[in-house]
Amino acid sequence: MEPILATCRAAVARPGKVLALTGAGVSAESGIPTFRGKEGYWTVGAREYHPQDLATHEAFEGMPWSVWAWYLYRLGVCRAAAPNAAHEALVRLARGLPDRFALVTQNVDGLHRRAGSPDAQTFPIHGDISLMRCARDCTLDRFPIPDGVPALAKGEEVSAAIKALLVCPRCRGMARPHVLWFDESYDEPRFHLDTVRKLATQAALLVIAGTSAQTNLPWQVVTLAARSGATIIDVNIEDNPFGEIAESSGGCVRAPAATVMSAIVDAILDRPAAG
Ligand code: APR
Repeated sequence: MEPILATCRAAVARPGKVLALTGAGVSAESGIPTFRGKEGYWTVGAREYHPQDLATHEAFEGMPWSVWAWYLYRLGVCRAAAPNAAHEALVRLARGLPDRFALVTQNVDGLHRRAGSPDAQTFPIHGDISLMRCARDCTLDRFPIPDGVPALAKGEEVSAAIKALLVCPRCRGMARPHVLWFDESYDEPRFHLDTVRKLATQAALLVIAGTSAQTNLPWQVVTLAARSGATIIDVNIEDNPFGEIAESSGGCVRAPAATVMSAIVDAILDRPAAG
């Protein structure tokens, strides 16, 4: 681990942004199933759906209340989870480098925000499961899912009373989860597309944690950072395509994020490792 910590120290001594890019693996140790893990299935009627089938605009158009039921179930899982040491380390990093650090996260679980990651330095590129927006896009505004909307048990249907709460406050039309679906595109107003691409070109150091490198904007972030000469560190329990890029521009840490992120942050902040 020491060579990686020395690499982080050398990188942060150069001018430029310090970025973190997180995926579901960072929340795995908080008990939230990862996307491509085996626990990702969801049953509607007699059919089993994989997230990639259900997290789509097409599915929402065809069976909106089944898609809402899945999200309200997952919202309960997220609400019941607590941030772990990896989330907390990234909060320390944000506070230690208020003008240089930015967190780009694929996670919609809200754990970074609940850990204390400042909104001004945190860019959720796939949305936030605790927010909803107008299904007809009458506004770009996002709204908290009302407190009166309970988490659902697995298989539970959305009641008429809950349906009445899942409406756009502006037009009173149906609301939808504020999450990027697999058949939708990134943009700046909802998912910070241009902002995170620009940050990647300004990075001196990029720490990737807990992602399988399956989605588009993370690939743009990593390749733009690499092309700009950033040092790239990949933290994951298993090899993945980002690890190959990190090997030639920084290094890989094959360990759980909650175990190693604190030491990495201490090195970046050039603080003695916590006792
Ligand atoms: N520490 C570090 N990495 C971990 C840990 C851990 N404790 N546990 C699992 N991982 C790694 C896995 O090895 C895997 O590479 O986290 C990664 C999780 O991969 P995915 O489940 O594919 O999650 P993610 O990469 O975030 O998915 C990206 O795709 O499904 C869409 O929008 C969804 O945001 C999601 C995106």
